[in-house]
Amino acid sequence: MQDIIQQLEQKRAAARMGGGQKRIDAQHAKGKLTARERLEVLLDEGTFEEWDMFVEHRCTDFGMQDNKIPGDGVVTGYGMIKGRLVFVYSQDFTVFGGALSESHAEKICKIMDQAMKVGAPVIGLNDSGGARIQEGVASLGGYAEVFQRNAMASGVIPQISMIMGPSAGGAVYSPAMTDFIFMVKDSSYMFVTGPEVVKTVTHEEVTAEELGGALTHTTKSGVADMAFENDVEALLMLRRLYNYLPLNNREKSPMRASGDPTDRLDKSLNTLIPLNPNQAYDMKELILKTVDDGDFFELQPDYATNMLLGFARMAGQTVGIVANQPLVLAGCLDIKSSIKAARFVRFCDAFSIPVITFVDVPGFMPGTSQEYGGIIKHGAKLLYAYAECTVPKITVITRKAYGGAYDVMASKHLRGDVNFAWPNAEIAVMGAKGAVEIIFREDKNDPVKLAAREAEYKDRFANPFVAGARGFIDDVIQPSETRKRICRSLVMLKDKKVENPWRKHGNIPL
Ligand code: HXC
Repeated sequence: MQDIIQQLEQKRAAARMGGGQKRIDAQHAKGKLTARERLEVLLDEGTFEEWDMFVEHRCTDFGMQDNKIPGDGVVTGYGMIKGRLVFVYSQDFTVFGGALSESHAEKICKIMDQAMKVGAPVIGLNDSGGARIQEGVASLGGYAEVFQRNAMASGVIPQISMIMGPSAGGAVYSPAMTDFIFMVKDSSYMFVTGPEVVKTVTHEEVTAEELGGALTHTTKSGVADMAFENDVEALLMLRRLYNYLPLNNREKSPMRASGDPTDRLDKSLNTLIPLNPNQAYDMKELILKTVDDGDFFELQPDYATNMLLGFARMAGQTVGIVANQPLVLAGCLDIKSSIKAARFVRFCDAFSIPVITFVDVPGFMPGTSQEYGGIIKHGAKLLYAYAECTVPKITVITRKAYGGAYDVMASKHLRGDVNFAWPNAEIAVMGAKGAVEIIFREDKNDPVKLAAREAEYKDRFANPFVAGARGFIDDVIQPSETRKRICRSLVMLKDKKVENPWRKHGNIPL
């Protein structure tokens, strides 16, 4: 018996060494942790239960039958983050470059299936050279098995991808179907085809970093939600994010009590809005002063920055914040910001997270580049997402809410539960200047008359009371009491139930 126990320990030790000390050293030399070290940082100490440590590949081509490493390039199992269950896989670049074989894929699928059965999220730590080249189509089949499970798990359990090394070719598509993608700066990249192929096909010369590095995907493509300085920071931030999320679509997010009083007033908000309506201010200040302890986990902070979004807590419960940012493009809605916010609203809706929307929007961005790019279809994504959303929706119009953008931004008409406006809010079809130029075209050569018309229009419409008179705004509130009013509304909405009509699925304009 003692022998057998020893043998087991030897086998385990061999598996833990992955591709061997030399490759582990090479991984460290690149500033990267190994697959197992990453799990140690991500999970609560001593909670990791590993599965399939002894799985090997079944490939017999190219001499692979003599080259087997237990675990086959991915460490899988489950553990805890702040005491809450999570399933994980962590690709081991020291074993065949973390390349995905049929067995490697089966290991990932096994924990995904189990996560679905018990209702717990899956976090994937990706560090892989893609399909295991020696295995050919068996490896492609393995990928597709993972993709299928990603699609089935979508909206049932949260799925999170951390890209911590290469993610190339079809390998990008599993992360792409998960809810959040994070990257590590300088050591991770994602692209469908690498620089060599790009050069051959399009004659463009581009580095891997430029093509698919963290900066590219967090600022240009919007594929990734955030980028971190190194592995440790990335994994610790993942633990923070996890704290906001429910385990599955039938549970609520964990409550985290805070010492921040729900009726806290903030007088400084009364002067947040500049006197000049064309002057910008930082909407993030309002968010930070409104949420519990000023703690806001912003997502996509460097992409489509005319829209701010992320998680926070109010009265201890997780909320999704969506807000126009007047500092950028005057906070208007354009293609990128509409898509960014639509996907976030859908995540919140799928996982029972109330959505708080702060509105200061002059309208949709005009111009040929927007129209040719399909702003109609992309703007409709956000409209659709808000309209379909059944979680508690609380909206605060801080200043402008003009035109179609008024409708889109969680208005009363899209089943907003509680719609507040600040006293200086302007809710109208369009700004006064544009409006009078159209309806009083005959006065266009008479600046004095036009100015009078503009003043008249402003007086009549640039306020929240016309909307208030129709019940489109539930109350006009003091800016200083924004937190208190939202917290109360959340309590009132705690047991909200609304069902959409039965259907196989809707047809959101993709
Ligand atoms: C098998 C692989 C591999 C792969 C890397 N390795 N990628 N083995 N299949 N796809 C092995 C290497 O042979 C090497 O083994 C070890 O991993 C480390 O690789 P290096 O090249 O030494 O590392 P590095 O210089 O850091 O370069 C990493 C890399 C490069 C950029 C990922 O290895 C690379 O370009 N690999 C091929 C990428 C690729 O074309 N994949 C297929 C994409 S198509 P030793 O024994 O020397 O340590 C695809 C289709 C999926 O994925 C479709 C799904 C729908």
